[in-house]
Amino acid sequence: MSASTQPHMFPRLSSPTRDRGGPAQPLLIVSNLRKYFPVRGGILNRTVGHIQAVDGMSFSVMKGETLGIVGESGCGKSTLARLLLYLLQPDEGELVFDGEAVHTWQGMSLQELRRNVQIVFQDSDSSLNPRMPAEDSIAYGPRVHGTKPAAAKALARDLLRAVGLDPELFGPRYPHELSGGQKQRVNIARALALEPRLVILDEAVSALDKSIEAQVLNLLMELKQQLDLTYLFISHDLNVVQFISDRVLVMYLGHIVEIGPVEAIYQAPKHPYTRALLASRLSMDPQVRMTEPPLVGDPPNPIAPPSGCRFRTRCPHAQDVCARVTPRLPPPMHGALHTVACHIYDAASGHPEAVAAVSPHRPVEISTPVRQNTVTQREQRRVCRSRSSRCATCASALSRVSPLCML
Ligand SMILES: Nc1ncnc2c1ncn2[C@@H]1O[C@H](COP(=O)(O)OP(=O)(O)O)[C@@H](O)[C@H]1O
Ligand code: SF4
Ligand SMILES: [Mg+2]
Repeated sequence: MSASTQPHMFPRLSSPTRDRGGPAQPLLIVSNLRKYFPVRGGILNRTVGHIQAVDGMSFSVMKGETLGIVGESGCGKSTLARLLLYLLQPDEGELVFDGEAVHTWQGMSLQELRRNVQIVFQDSDSSLNPRMPAEDSIAYGPRVHGTKPAAAKALARDLLRAVGLDPELFGPRYPHELSGGQKQRVNIARALALEPRLVILDEAVSALDKSIEAQVLNLLMELKQQLDLTYLFISHDLNVVQFISDRVLVMYLGHIVEIGPVEAIYQAPKHPYTRALLASRLSMDPQVRMTEPPLVGDPPNPIAPPSGCRFRTRCPHAQDVCARVTPRLPPPMHGALHTVACHIYDAASGHPEAVAAVSPHRPVEISTPVRQNTVTQREQRRVCRSRSSRCATCASALSRVSPLCML
């Protein structure tokens, strides 16, 4: 029986007593997180600058939600993921997990954080030991945390079944005997072995074929529901992020430029960068052609980013105030609020296009919109909004909803 057709059986992992603060308490609060990487040079190998990979990010992740993180390559997504697990030591900032400060004297220890938060990377080989069979790789974490070998092995086999792999067939296999999709399923099982509450998926499906990607996405959504998980889903694929996320956070050069519910971000993006990013999605319709790139130029050097708004060198709305003053995201608020860091949406900013009395939380129409890619607008009408088992575009029956429904 193939991996995709096998019924999923989920081991009972989560204990309900672990939810400390109730549903209103964010699972993770990130405050002012900062990470600069030193750049060394010269004959004495001195520090000559810093890459500002993550620069003062504050946001929260609510229990049970999927928060999508998008942004161009190099904007700091993976650095952020590693900081959230303390795989990298932050220069500044604070993490609060379910009401408990992380890595503080009386707060949550790093070991406890890493039981609660697990990560799946894009490179499906990176987390698997080439000399260990799949079931041993999955059982490794629980064994390190004190589970008896026989119990850890039984859990590993349950998890293999849960991710759609027959434990008899795939448990004894080494990584080189598995396909990319199967390896990523083993990685997901490995991440679930410690019963995490938050799973960070850093480009976890990006390297897979589209059909396998759709299977793994469906698997992730099933596991989330069954095991009461929360996801932080990092991807450069805007269609996949739209498909899986409840809220979306848009990053540009180490800053959050916009955050909000997925419908608001995709149907009424506010920040000029988000609008350009969404407009750059390719069309599946040969009749619809993109004549001008919606986003021109390369991202600036992260060692010496532009003053004020970091997007100003590529923004068609940039004004003097954008070079002088850094636009700030309104203070972090938990929940579904749509907020943006751009002077146009701040009536007191002095930006000529800022509309008086506009709340920073309310959308406004920008008077001179960025070059809109009509592709996206036309495509949006084709998106399968019902996400039902029938494709809205071609009306064919679908066994499962797939990311292709978003095209
Ligand atoms: N360990 C490191 N040392 C120095 N620079 C790094 C390191 N990791 C990432 N960077 C730099 O930090 C920036 C953000 O990288 P990354 O977080 O991997 O971006 P993304 O995942 O969004 O593509 C990039 O400019 C990258 O070159
Ligand atoms: S703050 Fe200025 S430069 Fe930055 S996105 Fe808004 S209008 Fe453009
Ligand atoms: Mg990355």
